[in-house]
Amino acid sequence: MKITVVGAGAVGATCADNIARKELASELVLLDIKEGFAEGKAQDMMQTAALLGFDTIITGSTNDYSKTANSDVVVITSGLPRKPGMTREELIGTNAGIVKGVCENILKHSPNAIIIVISNPMDTMTYLALNSTGLPKNRIIGMGGTLDSARFKYQLSTTLKCSPADLNALVVGGHGDTTMIPLIKHATWNSIPVTKFLSEEQQQTIINDTMVGGATLTKLLGTSAWYAPGAAGAALVESIVRDEKKLFTCCVSLNGEYGQNDICLGVPVVIGKNGWEKIVEMDLSADEQAAFNKSADAVRNMNDVLKTL
Ligand code: LAC
Repeated sequence: MKITVVGAGAVGATCADNIARKELASELVLLDIKEGFAEGKAQDMMQTAALLGFDTIITGSTNDYSKTANSDVVVITSGLPRKPGMTREELIGTNAGIVKGVCENILKHSPNAIIIVISNPMDTMTYLALNSTGLPKNRIIGMGGTLDSARFKYQLSTTLKCSPADLNALVVGGHGDTTMIPLIKHATWNSIPVTKFLSEEQQQTIINDTMVGGATLTKLLGTSAWYAPGAAGAALVESIVRDEKKLFTCCVSLNGEYGQNDICLGVPVVIGKNGWEKIVEMDLSADEQAAFNKSADAVRNMNDVLKTL
C-alpha cells in the first residue's frame, strides 16, 4: 500500500504521522512546494520509527510528483490555512488554483488513486476535485464532516461527562461555520438519546460550540487547527486501506440523495476499499431537511464562484 499526503504543513504532517503510527502503508510520501520542507518532515518522522516501532517508509519530495507514482490513496491538504477572523470560504481564490493543479499532477502518476480532500473551503474544493479530474465519484471524498462529528462528540462528552468513544453523533451539511448541521436529536450515548440528559439550552450551546469549533481554535492558535483535522484524514485512510466499511460523514457527490444534485456535501457514507461505497439516507425531520437545503444553497453559491476564477 502506498499513500501520499500533499502539503507538509501542520495538517498534512499530522495526518502523515498518524498514518505511519498506524502502519497503514508500506510507503508514505509527503510532498510540498517549499524546498526541502517535506524531506525534513519525513526525515524527522522516520527518526521516530525506532522509538514508536512502525515500519512505514516515509519519504519527502519537493514538488516532484513522480515520487508519488502508483499511490493507492492521496490526501490533499495543500493551500492556505485560515487566519483568525477569516472564514474558510475566503480562501477560495488562492486554494482553488492550488487544489486543481495538485489533482492534475497526482492523476498523471496515480490514475487509480482515491483522493481525500482536506483543503478549504472543503465542500467547494471537493466539488472542484470531482469536476476537474472527471474521476468516478466514489473516489473523491471530502473530509469535513468526519472532523466536525469528532468535534461534536467532544462538545457532547464534556457536557455529559462521558467518553467520546461511547457517543454516536453526526454533523451533516457543509463544513462552514454557518453551514454545518450537528444532528443532536439523532445523537446517542451508547444508543440512549443524548437529548434525554440535556436541557434545550445545553443542546443549543453544544450545537453552537460545534459549529464554531474550527474558528475557536483558529483564534486560540493564530492559525487553523491540525491534530483533529490530521486524525480525521488518517481515520478515513484507515477505513479505505483496511476496508473497514466504517460510517463517517463525508463530503461526497449527491445525485438525488437528500434531495440534492450537482453538489458535494456532507452526508453519512460507508468508507471502504473503493472509496465511499454507499450513501446512508437518514430520516431527517422537516427542520433538519430545511437546514440541509439551506446549507446546500450556501455551498452552491460558493461553487458558483469557481466559474469566475
Ligand atoms: C478546521 C479546518 C481544517 O476546521 O477546516 O480546523
